Amino acid sequence: MTLDGKVALVTGAASGVGVAICRALREAGARVALTDVDGTALEEVASGLGDGAATFVADLADDDAAAALPARVRDEFGSLDILVNNAGVRQVAPLLELTPAQWRRTLDVDLVAPFVLCRAAIPLMAEQGRGKIVNIASMAGLAAFRDRAAYSAAKAGLIMLTKNITVEFGDRGIWCNAVAPGVVETPMTSFFFASPGMTSSIRANTPMRRWSRPEEIARPVVFLSGPESDFVNGTVVPVDGGWTAGYYGAELSPRPEEA
Ligand SMILES: NC(=O)c1ccc[n+]([C@@H]2O[C@H](COP(=O)([O-])OP(=O)(O)OC[C@H]3O[C@@H](n4cnc5c(N)ncnc54)[C@H](O)[C@@H]3O)[C@@H](O)[C@H]2O)c1
Repeated sequence: MTLDGKVALVTGAASGVGVAICRALREAGARVALTDVDGTALEEVASGLGDGAATFVADLADDDAAAALPARVRDEFGSLDILVNNAGVRQVAPLLELTPAQWRRTLDVDLVAPFVLCRAAIPLMAEQGRGKIVNIASMAGLAAFRDRAAYSAAKAGLIMLTKNITVEFGDRGIWCNAVAPGVVETPMTSFFFASPGMTSSIRANTPMRRWSRPEEIARPVVFLSGPESDFVNGTVVPVDGGWTAGYYGAELSPRPEEA
């Protein structure tokens, strides 16, 4: 139980990757504060976690609500040791059809909210002498994908926020790392799985020839939240089955039997 006695705040905890992260942190011994805008689903997830879980319904696009969360969690649980910025929205639209309002909304949830949460959590963690932040970015923050300009820009920004926090607070007991998932089967990507063209394209571009389950993103998050990763700071860990190792180039040299 590497996270025994630790308290974790997880955003976007009502669905997909967030649910798996909450379960994995709880299994590792942490008590978990779950937050999401969807209160009904949040209660259901929390009730499945039993003791050691509490819910905090908040819309992270509201700066004041987001900024208040770390202190609310510390007041309820007595400390705040881990912050996982997982909540996210994804806008899929051709660049010329993307409106400034859609662009801002994506950045508000995917980049401004993590900044606001980190800004509120870091002083509490520094006061305790130690705290770990894990930001859930995306392989779209490492590479461009058609129709995803706002999402890619937000996730690339989140990766640089991660590195800036390490540079500024690495000597004050703060760890900040990012995980960059490839395609994960969740409600966010359900439309992928309704299209055979899309699933064969994912397979073709992923050296491991498959997509991932939310639990496969949660395990590296537990590692980055615990003491085993104590010399890992300011990094971004792709968890994408190798997609960003090869990009499309992986397909340019078929194996002899496939040529
Ligand atoms: N699913 C993938 O393939 C994939 C790939 C790369 C990165 N990611 C990232 O992983 C994270 C989780 O994605 P997921 O697939 O589980 O998505 P999801 O849509 O299943 O869950 C996202 C959660 O965030 C919450 N949320 C959205 N806006 C919010 C707001 N304003 N305030 C509070 N909560 C809000 C939603 O209610 C939902 O519960 C996201 O940051 C996403 O960008 C996902």
